Amino acid sequence: MTAETIEETRREAMLEKIESLHAEQTKAVEAGGKYIARHKERGKLLARERIELLIDEGSAFLELMPLAGWGSDFAVGASMVTGIGVVEGVECMIVASDPTVKGGALNPWSLRKSFRAAEIAEKNFLPSINLTESGGADLPTQKDIFIPGGRGFRDLTRASARKQPTISVVFGNSTAGGAYVPGMSDYVIMVKERAKVFLAGPPLVKMATGEETDDESLGGAEMHSRISGSSDFLALDEHDAILQARRVVARLNWRKQGTSPDPTSYEEPDLDPEELLDLIPTDLKEPFDPREAILRIVDGTGPNNAVAFDEFKPLYGSSLCVGWATLHGREIGILANARGVLMSEEAQKAAQFIQLANQKDTPLLFLHNTTGYMVGTEYEQGGIIKHGALMINAVSNSKVPHLTVIMGASYGAGNYGMNGRAYDPRFLFTWPSAKSAVMGPQQLAGVLEIVARESAEKKGEVFDAEGFKGIKDMVEGMIEEQSLPYFLSGMVYDDGVIDPRDTRTVLGICLSVIDNQPIEGAMNFGVFRM
Ligand code: COA
Repeated sequence: MTAETIEETRREAMLEKIESLHAEQTKAVEAGGKYIARHKERGKLLARERIELLIDEGSAFLELMPLAGWGSDFAVGASMVTGIGVVEGVECMIVASDPTVKGGALNPWSLRKSFRAAEIAEKNFLPSINLTESGGADLPTQKDIFIPGGRGFRDLTRASARKQPTISVVFGNSTAGGAYVPGMSDYVIMVKERAKVFLAGPPLVKMATGEETDDESLGGAEMHSRISGSSDFLALDEHDAILQARRVVARLNWRKQGTSPDPTSYEEPDLDPEELLDLIPTDLKEPFDPREAILRIVDGTGPNNAVAFDEFKPLYGSSLCVGWATLHGREIGILANARGVLMSEEAQKAAQFIQLANQKDTPLLFLHNTTGYMVGTEYEQGGIIKHGALMINAVSNSKVPHLTVIMGASYGAGNYGMNGRAYDPRFLFTWPSAKSAVMGPQQLAGVLEIVARESAEKKGEVFDAEGFKGIKDMVEGMIEEQSLPYFLSGMVYDDGVIDPRDTRTVLGICLSVIDNQPIEGAMNFGVFRM
């Protein structure tokens, strides 16, 4: 194939994946189905419309985890919309119930999503705004959410104690556990004749105590604003409530505490990000040079001829490429897999580079395309375990903010060494071409076959290779499906699947968000086995 044909084939395959990504994301937007029209007829705004009015005009909203719950019995999006938006110039974590999906009731995936949103707010020191209208716990799955769900209220009050303000705007029903969201928030706004905030609604009160009461006396916005004091501001309608929330944020006296200079200008990349589609193979067996991707993501050379990507140790451990760059004017260190497999040299190089980033308080970006650490006698004797452990030690104990993008393969302990989800990256995004699992589907099915064959031989039985083929095919299909980005995003193992062309913008927003607090690298790591 000529270079042009390869590029064309890759572009077509990636565009197909991006189209399918948009179709899956649309499922989250339309998850309410027939209840969307009913909600509008009631004169209410949709969750996404509330967010759009809340954030500064023309500013971006970085939606996070839109595919939560994908592949589960629950609607895609998990009955809530979360993300980071700028309100009165302040980057805020926004969590909005989607009342058109099961009355905004929280299911086990909503819980995972809201916990992750709280974690992102905590790690990056962001004020949070809850746009509440939720029927509380999804009652049929209460066993999975009631006990762990208490953490949501704990997180709110701990955020307040850390001086991270919490704001709750109540647009409708906010029953039982839902009542503690405004209850625990620093600032509460309730919409007149709409907000209903009570520990138990009239039917339950009647059952429990025999008292006959009504929604308004029990938990209406007027009552909470004039009598109970659980509301600080009575809003006339939804638009007024959003305006009042913006006023609250404007008065937070919020100052970013980061030490990076706020960039006023920066160069666009030297190479066109659009070309990423021609370069990134969707067939993970095809190699690609990550430098080609890096130069389409980071800031360009500029008039003073600065080098866009300053590679460190380029002649050593060449399966991992590491170096320094700026992105939207902010300094970063990058570690990117170049030829899939990680060997001892790559692991040592990574550990050294991570230490250097910590020494100079610089965030790190990990770009995954790895099949894991090298196996085999030569490599075991060369100490691949201790060198892999060295890299994982450095990643685990590094204190500078980490960003991760899974571009292609992310298999085995390579996922750990390259700062996978379990290693607490501040943000983790996936490209539609990515795959992540303990190993590739064929390899996993092949290992299972070898184990089954040996087990049969040990028992003196004849191994039924033909019969095992069905199991092998089934396992292969299952692992293939479980390795795909939507599945992993559905499990909330990432913060979103993104179009590769948006990577620069998304990471630029993340770096700005990270700058809400100072960066202080670690100089203490665990014991390095040398
Ligand atoms: N758990 C599971 N499903 C719920 C739910 C909950 N907490 N709250 C609502 N739903 C479901 C409804 O059964 C209905 O499902 P369906 O489409 O399959 O029939 C769907 O969500 C829409 O509910 P509906 O009552 O028609 O919506 P609404 O906008 O008129 O009212 C509520 C929304 C939340 C006010 C109302 O559904 C309600 O009071 N729910 C119970 C709230 C509660 O007591 N929660 C206790 C939590 S501890």
